[in-house]
Amino acid sequence: MEFVSEFATRLPVTIMANYLGVSDDKKDELAGYARQFIFEFSNDPEVSDRAVTALRGYFTQHIDNFLREAIPGRLLSRLAAGYRDGILDKEELIEMCVFLFAAGTETSGSLLGSGLLTLLQHPESLEAVRNNAELMPNAIEEMLRYETPVPMTTMRVTPEAIEIDGLVIPEGQPIIGILAAANRDSEKFPNPGCFDIYRNTTGHFSFGGGIHYCIGASLARLEARVTFTTLLEQFPTLQLDKGNAFSKLARKLSGSSGGSTWHWRERVPTRGLEYLRLKW
Ligand code: HEM
Repeated sequence: MEFVSEFATRLPVTIMANYLGVSDDKKDELAGYARQFIFEFSNDPEVSDRAVTALRGYFTQHIDNFLREAIPGRLLSRLAAGYRDGILDKEELIEMCVFLFAAGTETSGSLLGSGLLTLLQHPESLEAVRNNAELMPNAIEEMLRYETPVPMTTMRVTPEAIEIDGLVIPEGQPIIGILAAANRDSEKFPNPGCFDIYRNTTGHFSFGGGIHYCIGASLARLEARVTFTTLLEQFPTLQLDKGNAFSKLARKLSGSSGGSTWHWRERVPTRGLEYLRLKW
């Protein structure tokens, strides 16, 4: 089984589509646009722009229908109530849907893929969480810290000169926080390169911080907990599909990467797997 395309990217898309009332026959097309929006942003901005335009076009129409016909969609109903109460205008409502759909799909999908790979690469941790489900929440926090699915923040601009550790960043400078680096700070997380499901993970930066702290953090954690717990229960012999002699050779030649068993996507802003082959 190829876990990324067959499960990890599909579960969050299905959930966000359900929250926003997107019909089954549209959700994969929109997920394709969301991927282009995210991954082409720093590679081919025109493709990214076209994808956002397509998402906006869909949600503009969808919201008009929604407001007229009350299509089911729990989160969208709440947002629409905000619109009716004058808290959001129509444009903000549309942008909110576009952003939520994009932000809520690739991110969680990345965690499911990288988290499962990390667990399968650490058999003692795998056995520990299989035998004691209470360890799972902290194991998920450690997966988030160790492979940081969103390695950097969006860009900010300094409102005034700021001094950090003796370095002065002048006013008006664009800055990006590298969350993945903060998560490997050895003063905060001793031996940071070690995956340790028992460590104190409090204060990791995988969901950002401050007023822009991820609003989907609880949902992402829930998706991960249900996925990993169910997989371990249902597939006691779950393992990486290291394949035949040819794929073993490919793995050897590709150095630290998993060859034909797994492959890391080469594009930011989310860090996740292109594919992950499993067997049981
Ligand atoms: C493992 C999954 C996820 C990770 C690692 C993640 C990570 C992040 C990070 C790091 C930020 C802050 C970005 C910044 O400061 O520039 C953020 C913001 C955000 N996330 Fe997530 N996210 C995840 C899942 C979700 C989900 C499921 C949703 C939607 C339901 C979501 C919606 C948002 C939104 C709307 C923001 C912007 C909040 C604001 O600016 O006030 N995220 N996320």
